[in-house]
Amino acid sequence: MQARVLRVGVAGLGEAATEFLPGYHRHPHVRLAACADPRAPARERFVRDFGGRAYCDAADMCAAENLDVIVVATNHEFHRDPVIWAAQAGRHVVVEKPMALSLADCDEMIDACDRAGVRLLAGHSHSYDAPIRSLRRLIAEGSYGPLSMIHGWNFNDFMTRPYPDSHLAQSAGVVLNQAPHHIDVVRYLGGGLLHSVRAVALNRSVPTRPGFGAYACFLRFTNGVPVTLVYSGYGLFDSAELFGWYGEGGQPRQPTTNAASRGNFLALDDGERAERLDALKERLRYGSVGLGERAVMPPGWGKGGRPPTTGALPTKQPFFGLLLVSCDRADIRQYPDGLAIYADGGRRDVPVTGMPDARQAEIDELYQAVVHDRPLVHDGRWAKATLEASLAILQSSAENREIILRHQIALPEGN
Ligand SMILES: NC(=O)c1ccc[n+]([C@@H]2O[C@H](COP(=O)([O-])OP(=O)(O)OC[C@H]3O[C@@H](n4cnc5c(N)ncnc54)[C@H](O)[C@@H]3O)[C@@H](O)[C@H]2O)c1
Repeated sequence: MQARVLRVGVAGLGEAATEFLPGYHRHPHVRLAACADPRAPARERFVRDFGGRAYCDAADMCAAENLDVIVVATNHEFHRDPVIWAAQAGRHVVVEKPMALSLADCDEMIDACDRAGVRLLAGHSHSYDAPIRSLRRLIAEGSYGPLSMIHGWNFNDFMTRPYPDSHLAQSAGVVLNQAPHHIDVVRYLGGGLLHSVRAVALNRSVPTRPGFGAYACFLRFTNGVPVTLVYSGYGLFDSAELFGWYGEGGQPRQPTTNAASRGNFLALDDGERAERLDALKERLRYGSVGLGERAVMPPGWGKGGRPPTTGALPTKQPFFGLLLVSCDRADIRQYPDGLAIYADGGRRDVPVTGMPDARQAEIDELYQAVVHDRPLVHDGRWAKATLEASLAILQSSAENREIILRHQIALPEGN
């Protein structure tokens, strides 16, 4: 039987689009068929790279085009409406992380998709990374005994990258932007059902930046398994140092990256800061960068000190900071090629090979759901549960208490 090809429309062609368009373009069961973005250079570039029709307004694209799927990659605060428009037009939806900024918005998005009978995949997080999927398999097989704890540490330069202050204000700094990755990974590994969050979020090292640049939290699963998560985006220590100097995408990362990023940011003149950050962010967006191109950035600026390359494949496995997972009879962590397992007899390295990369895995999950009616892992309710735990970091920190979670759901059987 011939495989079906999904016609995909994209709402929001910014920096995120430079990361996911190559994966959709490469996928044999996908055709990029339309786009919507108010930025003319992005629309023009999309038509040049992929063909299809371009719209200024996502609502018009949802209504006019005969699409199977709409990918929503607008800014966080504009996720809800395009998802609802897509559902109302009878299209399946993929929405970038964080799914939304409030649980009420998540509910509206979930309801709209349920009413329309369409699938809502709320990707994309580091839980799709091949080493994380391998680690989940090891835990589920139980060869090293039950899961007993998870610890994650990520230190990078997030707060001094060329992101506008308004973007950081929307996401409470790293908390609603980066914690969804951390928490999604942990929920995926631990089965989904978190019980509580106790956290402190900090804005100390670059206090003129809005939002929190760091957090430390203690989470517990309903089965008692404890988790600690620590993040700092202030550009001082770099957790890539613990990973052979490979960065988040598995690309080489220079030991000078954090210092350059922080130095550039701190040297910005207050009066010009907003304009300069807007201009630098624009250089990172699709439209400034086309398929197969690198963003052109001044030295030391970029995402992780390295301008994203649209379409370049990384050389090592992706890495969202040190992740140390303990089962009763083994501690397991990532190393650049796979998983290092510390069990009786010493360390054993297990390379992770032959698995689809994270973006391909996400599209495969969507395809299986849309075409073969398989259950999604990362559906709207899953992402709402991840957002609940991320919001709890803010609440716990503000109220100085443990927050009990109420909207957690379990990983579907067989994962
Ligand atoms: N999963 C990941 O690893 C990852 C990586 C980067 C970004 N993201 C997420 O992707 C989203 C976008 O982030 P970004 O960095 O690309 O932002 P961005 O500002 O670079 O791009 C947003 C784009 O959306 C467009 N837009 C805004 N409103 C629109 C509307 N109503 N209709 C159509 N287009 C509209 C803007 O013109 C812009 O081109 C965020 O939610 C972010 O968290 C996820």
